[in-house]
Amino acid sequence: MILKDTIRIGVVGAGSMGTGIAQVALMAGHSVILCDTGTNALENSKNNLSNTFKKLQEKGKIQNADDLISNIIFTNTIDALNNCGLIIEAIIEKLEVKQSLFKSLALIVNDTCVLASNTSSLSITSIAAACAYPERVIGLHFFNPAPLMALVEVIPAIQTNITIIDAAKKLMLKWGKTPVIAKDTPGFIVNRVARPFYGEALRIYEEGIADMATIDYAMTQIGNFKMGPFTLMDYIGHDVNFVVTETVFQSFYYDARYKPSFTQKRVLEAGWLGKKTGKGFYDYSPNAVQHHPKTEPELLNTICERIVAMLINEAVDALYLKVATIADLETAMTKGVNYPKGLLKWCDDLGADYVLNLLDNLYNTYHEDRYRASVLLRKQAETKSKFL
Ligand SMILES: NC(=O)c1ccc[n+]([C@@H]2O[C@H](COP(=O)([O-])OP(=O)(O)OC[C@H]3O[C@@H](n4cnc5c(N)ncnc54)[C@H](O)[C@@H]3O)[C@@H](O)[C@H]2O)c1
Repeated sequence: MILKDTIRIGVVGAGSMGTGIAQVALMAGHSVILCDTGTNALENSKNNLSNTFKKLQEKGKIQNADDLISNIIFTNTIDALNNCGLIIEAIIEKLEVKQSLFKSLALIVNDTCVLASNTSSLSITSIAAACAYPERVIGLHFFNPAPLMALVEVIPAIQTNITIIDAAKKLMLKWGKTPVIAKDTPGFIVNRVARPFYGEALRIYEEGIADMATIDYAMTQIGNFKMGPFTLMDYIGHDVNFVVTETVFQSFYYDARYKPSFTQKRVLEAGWLGKKTGKGFYDYSPNAVQHHPKTEPELLNTICERIVAMLINEAVDALYLKVATIADLETAMTKGVNYPKGLLKWCDDLGADYVLNLLDNLYNTYHEDRYRASVLLRKQAETKSKFL
């Protein structure tokens, strides 16, 4: 049987994701081998894990900090992974480097080992194609921080053996995660469907309809999102958020819906990466000026409706193109990015005809392909159907 509870887990890449995934696997009772080519990365990862387990023990959340840390081996050679039942790769986001790693891993693993990639944006199929066992390769996309975020997108490559999909899903459930199945398409579920939250907010700002603080205020106060788009982009970091947008845009053959923004490109070029550098769209220094959002209800409503309509359209189109099921789309957006409600439910609540009208008005105003409504949204509006 594949992916039994007792298998040894290999993790390659001891950065923030690899360390987080190793923690999750250890806490689920597995022994873990964590491999990285960088000695510093291994040292940092070891210190981070020890500190995390100590703190969890002090808080009374675990009793076995010493056992957990003694159940992981840190290594800089992939040969040490030869006895693993599952190896999760979390190295640098470069296709050639990942392909080369998978090719090497296939030479040393046993004949039941499953090879998974935590890539955010690369095709699982192209990673699988590089190794001798493409049928045993799958995507397991954890969210940051992996120990705290419940969602895991399980992404079969077109070569993946069907039994592995089911086994991976079951293993993630045992690890206390919420797995959803996503088709191997750019951005999978979350990184595709969430694009308009950033892109449309930037567009509204660039057109001078509202300033950033007002757009953020509209999305938190009217839309009930935990963070506004500009605050969230600063939090994620523009080096990460802009690169994901750019990759999704390129992977969709430059579909206007995913077009990156110059406003964001400029802050990235300036090195204003967001909260981590003390400056992004906002200034995080102690003496920074406070922003006062405009509070006219009509303006806030227009902003929120426009962004939410674009998000709903993206989710509906992902459903139409069979990227995921209704249930998995709803779970992904509520657990992966903490949206206040699923976008298909939101469509039902507003009415598909209402959402369609918002999009068609935008399309008629701008004459841009970006605002084209999904065929499925149009069908739902015509037949007055609900998704849930
Ligand atoms: N950071 C996030 O928010 C996030 C979320 C989901 C998925 N991901 C994906 O997870 C992966 C890792 O991201 P991260 O943020 O942890 O990166 P990171 O830069 O923190 O860590 C990557 C680690 O991989 C090591 N490494 C690079 N090439 C290697 C190789 N050939 N063999 C062994 N080790 C190697 C590096 O030394 C580094 O320690 C990427 O594919 C990324 O797209 C990241």
